[in-house]
Amino acid sequence: MITKRTVGEVFSSVSRKYDFFLNLITFRRIEHWQRDLLSMLSPEGNRLDVGTGTGEVLLKSQNKGMRVGMDLSLEMLKLAKSKCKVCKFVVADAENMPFKDSSFGSITLSLVYRHLLDRKAFLREAYRILEKHGQIAMLDINRFSLTPILIFLMKYPLKPLGLLLFGREKWDFFIHSLENSLSIEEVKKEFEEEGFEVLEVQKRLFGLVYLILSRKR
Ligand SMILES: C[S@@+](CC[C@H](N)C(=O)[O-])C[C@H]1O[C@@H](n2cnc3c(N)ncnc32)[C@H](O)[C@@H]1O
Repeated sequence: MITKRTVGEVFSSVSRKYDFFLNLITFRRIEHWQRDLLSMLSPEGNRLDVGTGTGEVLLKSQNKGMRVGMDLSLEMLKLAKSKCKVCKFVVADAENMPFKDSSFGSITLSLVYRHLLDRKAFLREAYRILEKHGQIAMLDINRFSLTPILIFLMKYPLKPLGLLLFGREKWDFFIHSLENSLSIEEVKKEFEEEGFEVLEVQKRLFGLVYLILSRKR
């Protein structure tokens, strides 16, 4: 079973190679997508980057208030702190945030939503800590037509190789995060059910990646 401890440990174990790997598999497009994501937001107010990882989104952020990053993985946050000295970082869970009501003008999430184990709990927390009309900008990978085939291959024919190369915990985690990838329509529905209004959707890489801007009603 995937737990938050598993999530934190998996990301801690890959923290040193994470930036290199992400740049490699996205052909460095991730840099542009993250800048595009930030440009969707109003620059006013404090900003929280949920699942900040190595802090790349916060580093690029030019909002006027505080820049705060949270993550389950201390190892990822150590790297983030070394890049952005003025940013604040906290080891915390997106589903139970240690912040006061209405304390942020905006929230960013880059490649995080599908890793959350209880997305409803996150959305409720996001609603609570955002100011009136506060915004959420998120970037993630679309659920596409080949996703079920890929999941089948990983669960059966590729499993022995996967277990040998990565071990059971990481292999199960890779499958779980693929199973949890959502279509744009599914994301919209979840946000709207928790009191957010979806304002804008942009697609990148032939629709494989999406950027979604929403606002607290
Ligand atoms: C794929 S990485 C994305 C890192 C960074 N946002 C980026 O775009 O490169 C996902 C991050 O989300 C964090 N994460 C997953 N679930 C979380 C949760 N419930 N609360 C806080 N962070 C979480 C992981 O520890 C990991 O650092």
